[in-house]
Amino acid sequence: MCEELIDKLCKNACLSAQEYLFLIQNRQSCSESLYAAARRVRDGVYGRKVYIRGLIEISSFCRNDCLYCGIRRSNKAAQRYRLDENEIFAAAEKGYSLGLRTFVLQGGEDAYYTDERLCNIIRRIKGEFPGCAVTLSLGERQRESYERLRAAGADRYLLRHETANPAHYSRLHPPRMSFENRLRCLESLKSLGYQTGAGFMVGSPFQTEEMLARELPFLKRLEPQMVGIGPFVPHCETPFAAYAQGSAELTLFMLALTRLTLPDVLLPATTALSTVDGNGRIDGMNAGANVVMPNLTPPKQRKKFSLYNGKAGSGAEAAENLAELKAQLKAAGYEADLGRGDHILRNHQG
Ligand code: 5AD
Repeated sequence: MCEELIDKLCKNACLSAQEYLFLIQNRQSCSESLYAAARRVRDGVYGRKVYIRGLIEISSFCRNDCLYCGIRRSNKAAQRYRLDENEIFAAAEKGYSLGLRTFVLQGGEDAYYTDERLCNIIRRIKGEFPGCAVTLSLGERQRESYERLRAAGADRYLLRHETANPAHYSRLHPPRMSFENRLRCLESLKSLGYQTGAGFMVGSPFQTEEMLARELPFLKRLEPQMVGIGPFVPHCETPFAAYAQGSAELTLFMLALTRLTLPDVLLPATTALSTVDGNGRIDGMNAGANVVMPNLTPPKQRKKFSLYNGKAGSGAEAAENLAELKAQLKAAGYEADLGRGDHILRNHQG
């Protein structure tokens, strides 16, 4: 039964939520063939290239209060920092000299980063480093703001939906946040021509296998160019401190289902996956992923961007150790590609 469903998924790039659920529930018996199918499909679209992005964590200030997140505003123990324009530029410059051609500016929802400040930094990076892509991951903003940032040269935007179930969404977030607004933001980003990334956590509190199964038809409908999937990892200064972490094995299974559902998707093996699985990057590639995002944040600030406990940030997670990352990938039969690494179809709506 599993093998038939995997064949069907390979042919149609979609199953019903019930069929996805069956695979998830029976994953012990079919994970190897699912991973093999995900690799085949990924290899057919992107080959064995793995795109490397330089991640710059620009601010640990956040106005939001997501219950799972270590930089939520109620966490009085969090160490806060923000990078100014020159520090962000210097981090990008370091990445550029290492050969990286995509910079991901990620941060909490920090009012310091007005449209004007962000547009200046985007224009400066794009001006000084032609041929580079700028990806933003700065949470929910007004459509007009996304529009200005796009006009200043931003190419891509990552905004995980966190869960496709609205009731579940409200149990993970404070009352002032809504699933509806999250989706509105994602639709705006898509319509403005950003290569858009959605995504969710695996094993977050109150999540069921039924909910996970429904992530895939949801993604099929949304059709994002990128999908970030990582296990939930508890942070001791949050209301979810006592909840169990999500499993690496289920995360890998969800990566493979996502690859087969959206064959062209840019799919990272996330830092959270590396945090719970020491070999997470390679395991992620072997389940159909094709992107990694080593950390370019100035090392003295790196520990402060603490979304969850034990966040990996050393070794091959650090952009300084690109040679180690390249060697790891090579040994597993992959080739690191530092180029822009756009989605093969980009975003036709732009
Ligand atoms: N565990 C795993 N992932 C987390 N994120 C935030 N907090 C946690 C946590 N405790 C993820 C969210 C967010 C991304 C930047 O980090 O999915 O979108």
